[in-house]
Amino acid sequence: MGRPKVLIGLKIPKEVEEYIGEYCDYEMWDSEEPMLRSELLNKLRDKDGVIIDGAQVDEEFLGKGPRLKVVCNVSVGYNNFDLTAMKKRNVIGTNTPGVLNDTVADLIIGLILAVARRIPEMDKYVKDGRWKLGDYKTLFGTDVHHSTIGIIGMGRIGEVVAKRAKVGFDAEVIYYNRTRKLDIEEKLGINYMDLNELLSKSDFVVLMTPLTKETFHLIDFEEFETMKQDAVFINASRGQTVNEEALIAALKSKKILGAGLDVFEVEPISSDNELLKMPNVVTLPHLGSATEKTNNSMARLAAENLINSLCKGNAQSIVPELRK
Ligand code: DGY
Repeated sequence: MGRPKVLIGLKIPKEVEEYIGEYCDYEMWDSEEPMLRSELLNKLRDKDGVIIDGAQVDEEFLGKGPRLKVVCNVSVGYNNFDLTAMKKRNVIGTNTPGVLNDTVADLIIGLILAVARRIPEMDKYVKDGRWKLGDYKTLFGTDVHHSTIGIIGMGRIGEVVAKRAKVGFDAEVIYYNRTRKLDIEEKLGINYMDLNELLSKSDFVVLMTPLTKETFHLIDFEEFETMKQDAVFINASRGQTVNEEALIAALKSKKILGAGLDVFEVEPISSDNELLKMPNVVTLPHLGSATEKTNNSMARLAAENLINSLCKGNAQSIVPELRK
């Protein structure tokens, strides 16, 4: 094979672009605006590999790129991959684990503090000119230090959050995961619990599990029912791991204290979504990994995954379900 032809479906740093150019002929989407799906599909016909920013890789996508050998996500989540269709066509899928752990963990801690101490609500309170001397007793928040923090999904990011919670906040950390992580339990002094027990004991329920068929609506009416009445719910995984209707009902009926959300069932969230009207809900536009440094590292890793797969025959960061 001559030089592979690839599509870079998002703007990436110049040095990463140059690195890809050493090995491949490439076409790049050179705009801050996301590429329209129709444009993306039109460019796949002659490509051997592609770097994408969350586009759905389904039968339609794969059908438009008959030469595709590898699809590289610039994210750790890969719920945009139709794994069955990719397996059938022998297309490798890669993600960017590791390089974003600390950045996402920082944001999760930020969400916990923001809801617990009502930071965005109080910021607005001051800026709206409502602050009166002595009124702080009506503005109490809730403590994060020495609380019980329950982490659902003990992957790489979960581990970093657990460490920050233990070391930085002297919290008791409990976790639920598909498989027990005895090494992390021992290293960090955290305890495994089944989901219901975790929900009933946690002051902060932090959801970080990847979205799969099994975790779709993992947190539903029953799960909110099981949480403590003063629990704060944090979601930094994918919106569809939670039944948003159940979350809204739990918040409205004061079954839980508040929520910090980086992800939503539909993104961007619709402006009439009730969550946007609740002062005890902090909403972010899916910013988990959004720092320049981390985004550059993710782009670099995606590019290495592309080159390793197409030119060096040693693909790396292949998502587990597509490993041989
Ligand atoms: C990812 O990489 O999957 C995260 O959602 C980024 O915020």
